[in-house]
Amino acid sequence: MGEVLDFSNISPHIRRLLQEIGMFGEETSRSVYVVGGFVRDLLTGRENLDIDIVVEGDAVDFAGQLAKAWEGQVHAHHQFKTAAITRLDGLKLDFVSARSETYSSPGALPSVEYGTIVEDLLRRDFSINALAIQLRPDTFGELVDCTDGLRDLRAGHIRTLHEQSFVDDPTRIFRAIRYEGRYNFQITAGDQKRILDTIEQGVLDLISGQRIRNEIDHILSEEAVPQMINRLREFDLLGAIHPTWKAPPDFDILWTAAGQAIEWASTSLPNEPINTGAILWMTLLTAPDAIEAVSSRLALENQLYAKLNAQTQLEHDLNALSALSKPSEVYHLLNPYPPEPLAFGMMQSNQPDWRVEKIGDYLTHLMRVQPLVTGEDLIQRGLKPSRAFSDLLWKAFAAQLNGQVSTAQEIYQLLDIEK
Ligand code: CTP
Repeated sequence: MGEVLDFSNISPHIRRLLQEIGMFGEETSRSVYVVGGFVRDLLTGRENLDIDIVVEGDAVDFAGQLAKAWEGQVHAHHQFKTAAITRLDGLKLDFVSARSETYSSPGALPSVEYGTIVEDLLRRDFSINALAIQLRPDTFGELVDCTDGLRDLRAGHIRTLHEQSFVDDPTRIFRAIRYEGRYNFQITAGDQKRILDTIEQGVLDLISGQRIRNEIDHILSEEAVPQMINRLREFDLLGAIHPTWKAPPDFDILWTAAGQAIEWASTSLPNEPINTGAILWMTLLTAPDAIEAVSSRLALENQLYAKLNAQTQLEHDLNALSALSKPSEVYHLLNPYPPEPLAFGMMQSNQPDWRVEKIGDYLTHLMRVQPLVTGEDLIQRGLKPSRAFSDLLWKAFAAQLNGQVSTAQEIYQLLDIEK
């Protein structure tokens, strides 16, 4: 019999749900387990509401019947033998069929066959993720640990389950780094060597940009990001994704600036749709030639690519700003930029106070100023669109921004146009 776990630090509601799943398993003669992150985090005392259930047998059928009993919604992926139930209380649970996997070639997605819980655990990434808890009533709460996951969890070790693990699925390299940083664990010496060997073999070139991008997004959403980036640097993992890519040497400082920019934007620009992910990427992808090459390799969306480029361009353009620049000059210089590089640029540690103020003033105020006199108004007064017309319009708006005029009438006087 496996160790019986203490469920006292999970909510009674979740415990009841797990018991219901176990009872349903018994009624339908199928063994069911909760696995992976939920178990790992239960054992380390962290809350994790990602509930992954493994069913020995057809999980799609199981989840379909259970959803009926719960009056929940079920979404099935027959191809992967998986299903998700969204319950009326909003909780979402994932169901997968216990499976064995084979990889036809390095980096390819695996082909999947039904298997036992043990086979299912043995195909997983690390021993700390290869833990399951039995849910059937007679054995409820018993740990299934066929890879010494509990020992590794207690010792703080990230350990793969077989020699080929990183070659089969190179995204596990990023996952290892993520768990190491998150739990302050250590990747075992053997696995550190396997990571270097896998990188050396060029296996990263075989996986899609989208999958690598997802892994980096996951890393950037963690708390211990600077430690993880350090590890990426030690393995030269970014350089293996594209030779132009290096983690900036001052990453930690940039990371602090990004946090401050996001915090500032959430309080000072509450109505502005800020892409916080773009600000996080600005800490990692800073060199112009790398931005181009890596965006293409990782299939970054055009909008993100444009924002990363804007950030490097902004660094140059900010040199044109002086402490004496008028609001209209600030507006003219900063208006081509989206708010993300501006907020990030504003928080750079070497930025003089007056610059911080000017960028802040642009984002919180100038950016939203509506012209008192528009092109339409000038046309109605008989002016024809032309270069001179545009100059006039800008003169009017600049005067408004600089506080020289405060009504349309004053603008017409300034422009010498009959009202
Ligand atoms: N898994 C794996 N290999 C991968 C991805 C996932 O073996 N490349 C397995 C692991 O057993 C993992 C489970 O699938 O526990 C679920 O994956 P995921 O949801 O990504 O991870 P979690 O364990 O939930 O961890 P996290 O807290 O990072 O989301």
